[in-house]
Amino acid sequence: MNIILMGPPGAGKGTQAERIAKNFGLLHVSTGDMFREAVKEGTAMGKKAKEYMDKGTLVPDEIVVGIVKERLSKPDAADGVLLDGFPRTVEQAEALDEVLRELGLKLDAVLSVDVDEEELVTRLTGRRVCSNCGTTYHIKFNPPKVRNICDHCGSELYQRSDDTVETVKERLDVYKKQTFPLIEYYKRKGLFQSIDGNQDIEQVFDVVSAYLKKLESKA
Ligand code: AP5
Ligand code: MG
Ligand code: ZN
Repeated sequence: MNIILMGPPGAGKGTQAERIAKNFGLLHVSTGDMFREAVKEGTAMGKKAKEYMDKGTLVPDEIVVGIVKERLSKPDAADGVLLDGFPRTVEQAEALDEVLRELGLKLDAVLSVDVDEEELVTRLTGRRVCSNCGTTYHIKFNPPKVRNICDHCGSELYQRSDDTVETVKERLDVYKKQTFPLIEYYKRKGLFQSIDGNQDIEQVFDVVSAYLKKLESKA
C-alpha cells in the first residue's frame, strides 16, 4: 500500500503516521523530518531548507522532489510507503506521479486529516519534540510522564523553531494557498478521503485504521 497523509500544519500527520507505519508495516517518509535531519547535520541542503522553514514557506519543489525520489528509489520503499507532508503543491503531485510510474508503484489513497484552525494553533504552540528520537508530545494533549523528558529514550524535549505563533500563521496561509488545490487534484483521481481530525489521537487512529484495513482487504 502506498498512502499520502495530508492536512494542515499541526493536524496530527506525524502523530498518526508513526502509528500507521508501525501497524501496517509501511515506511514513514516525512519531508519535514528529512529537512530537520539535514539541518541538524549541517548539510548544504539543510542550510538552504532552513531559510524557508524558519519563515514558514515551502522549500522549492526541485529540492523536495529530489530527496523524495532518492528515498523512494531505495529497496525498502518497495513494500509500501506512507508519505507525510509530501506532496504539498500540484507540481510536486505531478512529479510524484512520474516517480511512481518510473518505479512501477501505484498510489492507493490520499487521506486528509482535517482540524479546525483555532485547534491547530493550540496543537502547534504546545508541541514538544524529543531531541534524540523525534517522538512528538503535547504539553496538554499528550504530555510525557516526566516534564520535558522523552518517555522512550530519556532525552530532553525541544520546541520546533517554526512553532511560534507568527510562523504558524504563515504556514497555515501557505497551506491554504499552495496545498489546498491538491484536494481537487486527488478527488479527480478518485483517491481522496477526508478524516475528521477534531478528535483525540486514538479516535483518529481508529478511523484511519478502519479505512486502511478496508483498503487492504480490497487489494
Ligand atoms: P512539516 O514538518 O511537514 O510540518 P507541517 O506540515 O507544518 O506539519 P507539522 O509537522 O507541523 O504537523 P503534523 O500534522 O505532523 O502534526 P503532529 O503530529 O506533529 O514541514 C515543516 C516545513 O518543512 C514546512 O513548513 C516547509 O518549509 C518544509 N517542507 C516540508 N515538506 C515540504 C514539501 N513537501 N514541500 C516544501 N516544503 C516542505 O501534531 C501536532 C501537535 O498536536 C503535537 O503536539 C501532537 O502531540 C498534537 N496532536 C496530534 N494529534 C492530536 C489530536 N488528535 N488531539 C490533540 N492533540 C494532537
Ligand atoms: Mg509533522
Ligand atoms: Zn526520545
